[in-house]
Amino acid sequence: MLEILRMNHLKENIDKRRTFAIIAHPDAGKTTLTEKLLLFGGAIQLAGAVKARGDQRRARSDWMKVEKERGISVSSSVMTFEYKKKVFNLLDTPGHEDFSEDTYRVLTAVDSSVMVLDAAQGIESQTKKLFEVCRLRDMPITTFINKMDRESKDPFDLIDEIEQTLQIDVCPVSWPIGMGSRFLGCYDLIKDQLILINKADKIKKPSITLTLKGLGDTQLDKRLPSDSAYELREQLEMVNEFCKKFDLKSYLEGNLTPVYFGSAINTFGVQELLNGLTNITPPPGMQESLSRKISSEEEKVTGFIFKIQANMNPKHRDRIAFMRLCSGHFKRGMKLKHLRTEKNINVHNPILFLAQGRKLAEEAFAGDIIGIPNHGNLHIGDSISEGENIQFTGLPSFAPEYIQKIRTQDPMLTKHLTRALQQLAEEGAASIFKRYLGGDWIVGVVGQLQFEVMADRIRTEYDVPVIFEKLNFITARWIQSDQKSDKMLFIKNNSEIIADDHKNNPVVLIRNNWHLDHLFEEWPNIKFSNVKEQNN
Ligand code: G4P
Repeated sequence: MLEILRMNHLKENIDKRRTFAIIAHPDAGKTTLTEKLLLFGGAIQLAGAVKARGDQRRARSDWMKVEKERGISVSSSVMTFEYKKKVFNLLDTPGHEDFSEDTYRVLTAVDSSVMVLDAAQGIESQTKKLFEVCRLRDMPITTFINKMDRESKDPFDLIDEIEQTLQIDVCPVSWPIGMGSRFLGCYDLIKDQLILINKADKIKKPSITLTLKGLGDTQLDKRLPSDSAYELREQLEMVNEFCKKFDLKSYLEGNLTPVYFGSAINTFGVQELLNGLTNITPPPGMQESLSRKISSEEEKVTGFIFKIQANMNPKHRDRIAFMRLCSGHFKRGMKLKHLRTEKNINVHNPILFLAQGRKLAEEAFAGDIIGIPNHGNLHIGDSISEGENIQFTGLPSFAPEYIQKIRTQDPMLTKHLTRALQQLAEEGAASIFKRYLGGDWIVGVVGQLQFEVMADRIRTEYDVPVIFEKLNFITARWIQSDQKSDKMLFIKNNSEIIADDHKNNPVVLIRNNWHLDHLFEEWPNIKFSNVKEQNN
């Protein structure tokens, strides 16, 4: 009997978890939308709390300030709030200057994403990159087209752009009525509701909702100027005829994205989005591991580390490892097994992150993120369990977008530099590669500011002053092949452009796009991959 009650309690708690991230290009409105979601979730009272942080983030010009604000960025990197009996864990995807591999990796720890687009810009470069990471995991994605209060692209063009650029079906679930200064609100295509901006009180009650009896309802003519009503009817007929219908299965498989239009700054469309997320986003599901699939409802606790926040205090090597719980009911003080080292860890001071701060995590369920303070023994990609030998998969490394040679002028410090680089690579702060020829160290990052961050950390934490030097390469690709002999031959013939990553996986250094295309043509049996499983 007790057993049944315990299992029900576990299932109930896991069923209501919704762990998601927002992907966006800088300035599309991610911070504003986050803040409004937290307001609806009751997690913050005052508009401006997250925004202020967003502004600080943007304003900081050098990374020293980034460090000073780390305390803040840690507490805002996971934001938990409740809405309609669901527990939402919103994971921040660092953008702007702190765009890094972390941004990508956060997406391995969520079950769904919201893609925010600026209605005037459509799909921008960073959105596309982040979308592709979601795609790798067939993740369900909901789209919010923001800033409809500004002159925007035509909504049909936007839908077309998403479909063409991202190769995903698009289903509008709300439709904008006008745009810019003529933006009056949206039509809810699921509930047949007219949702109008409440110009009288945008703060307390941002919208007025009227349920209609279809498009012919005369209320539409009473509530909207005649040209807007005419345009809306005409557009909705086209939507009905040409746009995809919502299909839950397609959404859950990551093949269709429902689209909401709105204006986050005016809190318009946000509640509809949140209601939609409440209804359709999936709870924590199955996680792949090397040996078997792990169901979130299994009683035993399992999880993996997807992010390390280091240097909380530069004098100590203390770090917080962010663990995504994949199954079970975690309780503070639990003894868990760290599978890479096969050692037990006592989790006495786990951290639960809230929108405005953090607290000790007394308990947590699959889908939740907890922070585990440690001295550097936990690495990205590590699996944790109550004893079973589980190695979670699906935590990729991403090829760098910028690479440079790193060295120290003092040859006495070369060993120290090697140790620093190795540790930073294990922490996931950057990729490192050692060339076969000459043995130079190369550092790779996905956001350019990370070079400065690295140099500063190596100087302050390891006492090694470093310099970067430009290379004649733009990126690196992992060399993979079904035939070991092909791979060996390739490496032998190209040793001057081969290097090893920190786990001794060989990469080829790429001179330019032409070089990469040429390699593809010349070596059809070799895969030059821009992602690699973390644990290979
Ligand atoms: P981000 O986190 O994606 O980078 O974007 P953020 O929310 O910081 O928004 C970027 C800019 O866009 C901000 O303006 C913000 O106020 C504005 N914005 C967000 N949502 C909307 C919207 O629905 N409509 C309009 N018109 N603007 C929106 P800013 O000038 O950079 O900052 P601020 O001075 O407004 O604080």
